[in-house]
Amino acid sequence: MRAQLIRVATEAEAAREASRLIAAHINAKRDALVTLAAGFTPLAAYQELVAMQSRGEVDLTSVRYVGLDEWVGLGENDEGSCIFTMNGAFYQPAGIPKENIRVFDGTAKDICAEAQAINAYVEAIGGLSLAVLGIGMNGHVGFNEPGNPLEGQFSLTPLSAVTQAAGRKYFFGNAAPKTGATLTLNALMAAKHSILIATGAHKREITKAVLAGESSLPAAAFLNHPGAVYIFDAACCP
Ligand code: F6R
Repeated sequence: MRAQLIRVATEAEAAREASRLIAAHINAKRDALVTLAAGFTPLAAYQELVAMQSRGEVDLTSVRYVGLDEWVGLGENDEGSCIFTMNGAFYQPAGIPKENIRVFDGTAKDICAEAQAINAYVEAIGGLSLAVLGIGMNGHVGFNEPGNPLEGQFSLTPLSAVTQAAGRKYFFGNAAPKTGATLTLNALMAAKHSILIATGAHKREITKAVLAGESSLPAAAFLNHPGAVYIFDAACCP
C-alpha cells in the first residue's frame, strides 16, 4: 500500500485532519483545480476550512473548483442536489467567486453536451490537483459505481440500487434520481493528491472491503496511489 492511512478516534478529528490537508494543498498550489464531494461525510471538514479562512490560515478563494458529481435532473435550486449542498456548506460561506466554480448542471436540456463541456474544462486545465472524496456505502467515489468503468474525465452514469437507496437521505426520504454525472475514476486518480474519508459504524463493512483491496471497488483503487490519504474514524475502522 502506497497510500497513507490516518485513523482517528472521532468524526470531528477526521474533519480536522481532512481540513488540515486540504488547506495545506491550497496554500501550496495557487493554481489548483480542486473537487470536493458533496455527501454528508466531509461537510464538517468544509466548516473547519471556513473557520480556518476566517483566522487567516488559508485563502480558499485562490483556487478553482469543479463539481465532483450531480444527480441528473437536479440543479442549484433543488435541495439535495450536490450544488445546492456545496453552495450552502462551502462555496457561499467561503466566499468563492462564481467564476472559480464550474459544475455540471443537471437541469441542462442537453445533458450529454453539458457532460462534454465539463470534460473539456477539466482537460483544458490539465486535470485535477486535489480530490476530496467520501466513500459510498458500495465503495463508490463520486458516482463511479463498482463494476462500471467510465471513460474520459466526466461522464453520465446509471446509478446502482445501493446508491439510489443511500441517496434518499439527501431528499427527505424521497426517491433519488436514477442517473448521475461524475468526474471519472481516471480523472480522480490523475489528481496529484486525493483524500478519501469514511466515518461511522454504517461504513464499517465497506471500509473493511476497501482496505482488503477488493478490486471492483473504486475507493480501493487509491490504495497504491502515492498521493492518496485515507481518513477513517474508529467507528468505521475499529
Ligand atoms: C457526493 C458523492 C458521493 C458521496 C458518497 C458518500 O458528491 O460524491 O460519492 O461522497 O456517497 O456519501 P455520504 O458522505 O453522504 O455518506
